[in-house]
Order: sequence, then C-alpha cells, then structure tokens
Amino acid sequence: MTPVCSDSPRQPYFMQLFTQDLEATAVELKAALSASSVRLSPKFLYDALGSTLFDAITRLPEYYPTRTEALIVDTHLDDIARAVGPVGTLIDLGAGNCEKAARLLPALQPDRYVAVDISADFLAEALARLQRLQPSLETWGLGLDFSGALTLPDGAVQGRPLFFYPGSSIGNFDPAQALSFLTGLRKQVADGALLIGVDLLKPVTLLEPAYDDALGVTAAFNLNLLLHLNRLLGSNFDPRGWRHAAHFNAADSRIEMHLEARSEVTVQWPGGTRRFLAGERIHTENSHKHSVRGFAALLADAGFRTQRHWCDPQGWFAVFLASA
Ligand code: AVI
Repeated sequence: MTPVCSDSPRQPYFMQLFTQDLEATAVELKAALSASSVRLSPKFLYDALGSTLFDAITRLPEYYPTRTEALIVDTHLDDIARAVGPVGTLIDLGAGNCEKAARLLPALQPDRYVAVDISADFLAEALARLQRLQPSLETWGLGLDFSGALTLPDGAVQGRPLFFYPGSSIGNFDPAQALSFLTGLRKQVADGALLIGVDLLKPVTLLEPAYDDALGVTAAFNLNLLLHLNRLLGSNFDPRGWRHAAHFNAADSRIEMHLEARSEVTVQWPGGTRRFLAGERIHTENSHKHSVRGFAALLADAGFRTQRHWCDPQGWFAVFLASA
C-alpha cells in the first residue's frame, strides 16, 4: 500500500482491477446484436457519461429509490449501527458517488472504507472528495466489474467486514443471477454482515415515471448506451433514430427498459450489420421489485440469516441486514 507521510493528507489507495477485454466485449456485443431479439447487459449503461447521468437520475423528483433509502438510513442510523456491530472494513458495492456510504460512516466508524465500482474514473473522483471530508479514514478504491462474481484482492478486508450493497442494484440481476451473486457474497461475509437496499413493489403509477422522467434524463441514460456501444464496437448507432421505452412487467415484477427504433435502420460495425425494423427493440435493463417476504426468502435461499429490515413509512423501499 502507498505510504502516507505524516505531514501530507491521506490519499485513497486506488486499484484498477477491471481491464476491459475489448476483444471479448466485441464478441459478446456482436453475438447479442445478431440474436433475433437483442438483449444487452445493463453494465453497458455505465461509461463515464452514463455514471454521470445515473447520478442525475438519483436527484430527479420521480426517482424515489435513492432519497427513500437515504431517509431510511438517516431515520434508523443508530439502530442500524447497533444491529450491525463493530465494523473493520466497510465494502461499498457499486459505490458510485460514495454518498450512500458517507451517511453510514459517522455511525459505523469502520477502520477502512473499500469502494468498488465498474466506472473507475467516476469512482476515483468521488473517493478523493470523500477522503477530503474524512481525512483520517483509510480509503480504498477498486475499479472492478462484479456483475459475474465478486473477487476482492488479498488484503482488502481487514477485521470484521460489512458488505454494503445499496440502491437496489440487486434488482438489476435476473432472479437466478441474484441468487448466485448473493450465494457467492454469503461465502465472503464470514463473521461480518450484509446491508442491502431493496426496492419494493408499488403502484405502476409510481414505478413507471421513476424510469421515464419528465426531463428525459433516464432517456438520455438509456440512449447513451448506443454511444458507448459505438466506442466499444466501432458501430454507427445514431441515438436520434431511437426512443427510450420503460414499462412495468407485472408477470416478472420488474421495470424493463428498452430502446426502440423510430424507423427502419441498418446498423453497421466492422465485419457485420443488423437491420432493425421500425418499432423493434433492444432490451437494455431489468429492475426487479420485491416484496419484503420475497426478498427475505431470497436471502434465506442464498444461505443468509435475515436479522432485521427497516422500511420507510410508505413501504416503498427496505434496507435488510443479514448475516451468514
Ligand atoms: C442502479 N439501479 C439500481 C438503477 C435502477 O433503479 O434499477 C438503474 C436505473 N435505471 C434507470 N434508472 C435507474
């Protein structure tokens, strides 16, 4: 680890562990674009601009999850800290702007804060800001894609771990992926715990505007995926030819985001083409909504013991604490 001089401010220790295999990514994208119905991983929403747009989404009036989770944490902070117990390392999965963990730090007082995110540049800036506010905290930043499985580098966890997975990002996994991710996480929790934010089922009249806001920020976030694809694949998607679509799929209890071709278009990339008919869609993200009982059952299936959960008064969102 980088030595810290006593007269110089502490710096975050940063490790970029996510080196995108451009060849493998191009193979994955070409296969997806050649399928009869196109489905892409939501991870392609998060280049630097995508992360900035997501940050803007969390400030929109329609997007209730971030502020509702913050309300739950602020309201129950002392109770949460008591239930969690002593924390050696706080591991923040999908840390983004680090604001969610910043709410917990004063009460949990971990010895070390490890922020993990796929968008390394965005994370590095956020972590530097956090370090200025918390000069004595040992902070680590890990640029890591944990959408498959979470593998932390040796030595990252010191003392009792608390894995913090806020924002209901677990909802972006399909049910089988969520179960396998949580099962893998449970093995790493050891004597520590998992604190996880979960978006709950609610009326469609609240859900759909949260994913199709009046200012069009979520539309820009979704359409930006096409610009990201152009960079990764050398394709020639024109975002003007596509529209954002979001709807609640009640059968699967999830919001689905799609990009819909406004008119017939042929997209090209080195070595390939794909014709999209007017109205044809690219499926870009699922965001699953749970019941308290359903999510407790998922945690149990993954081998966790659910200790507690806290909700907002409207029952829109829940924060679960579970131990292995
Ligand atoms: C990151 N994740 C929890 C967000 C969600 O609500 O599913 C991503 C998002 N997509 C559109 N708006 C926000």
